Amino acid sequence: MAPRFDVRNKTALVTGGATRIGRAIATALAKEGANVIVHYNTSAAPAEQALAALEGHGVRANAFQADLLEPAQCEHLVEECLAWAGSVQIVVNSASSFGKSSLAELEAADVAANMQLHALAPLLLTRGLMGKPADGEPGRVVNMIDAYVHTYQRTHVAYNLSKRSLLDLTGMMALEFAPDVTVNAVAPGLIIPPEGEGADRHADLARKAPLADRGRVADVVDAVLYLVKADLVTGQTIYVDGGAHLSAGGRMGEG
Ligand SMILES: NC(=O)c1ccc[n+]([C@@H]2O[C@H](COP(=O)([O-])OP(=O)(O)OC[C@H]3O[C@@H](n4cnc5c(N)ncnc54)[C@H](OP(=O)(O)O)[C@@H]3O)[C@@H](O)[C@H]2O)c1
Repeated sequence: MAPRFDVRNKTALVTGGATRIGRAIATALAKEGANVIVHYNTSAAPAEQALAALEGHGVRANAFQADLLEPAQCEHLVEECLAWAGSVQIVVNSASSFGKSSLAELEAADVAANMQLHALAPLLLTRGLMGKPADGEPGRVVNMIDAYVHTYQRTHVAYNLSKRSLLDLTGMMALEFAPDVTVNAVAPGLIIPPEGEGADRHADLARKAPLADRGRVADVVDAVLYLVKADLVTGQTIYVDGGAHLSAGGRMGEG
């Protein structure tokens, strides 16, 4: 039996799609034959470069800028996507900011910003693009969370709290958007070090995971593609982390 969801000729929005993991996901979807909208905030030049590369795979591509800290810009992004594509069938919520904050010094504005970027923006985009599926057309949503979402990341408290909310929202949206749209999550472990963090420290931490290995971006991309193609999977999280979430990977208290 043919799968119900064929990626070819679908349109995908990838937030934070101009750089790093988001860009790799956008590229993989284009290679599968999806038209791709690259969302970016500050990375205008990388977004332009990404477009040319995506079009090289024989698909349509466009890039839209939005600061997802602003709900109005989330809504404007939805409008731009629908105006360009007519409808969007795949949403990958990957935009993120791995900012430091401690429980002792946590400020309300920091919590609000993290909740907006990591939880409310994915909800607004998903609702805007998938809330009214055309004629029961199937859709796919993949939320990028974090393998350490169940660990107390004491140096990144607001980030951690908001990614926990995105995990919860994944289950809520999976129920709300069924039966036409699936909503799942991918939880990467130590894949690419945050800006300014040395690769050596990252590799040392990764060796403490059960599989004693740092992941590759391709591992994360494979999980996203699986969830985009899967017909009977919703509300799930795939941890791509060498098993680190099972033992906290020695990262508890370090972020
Ligand atoms: N890298 C890892 O090893 C790792 C580990 C665990 C989880 N993850 C998750 O996997 C996903 C991809 O990871 P990544 O490391 O590639 O992400 P990243 O580089 O930290 O962020 C991706 C993009 O998010 C965008 N962004 C940040 N603030 C924004 C805002 N206010 N409005 C709109 N966009 C904003 C940025 O776009 P511009 O550059 O255009 O400003 C950035 O390029 C993220 O959700 C992350 O939490 C990654």
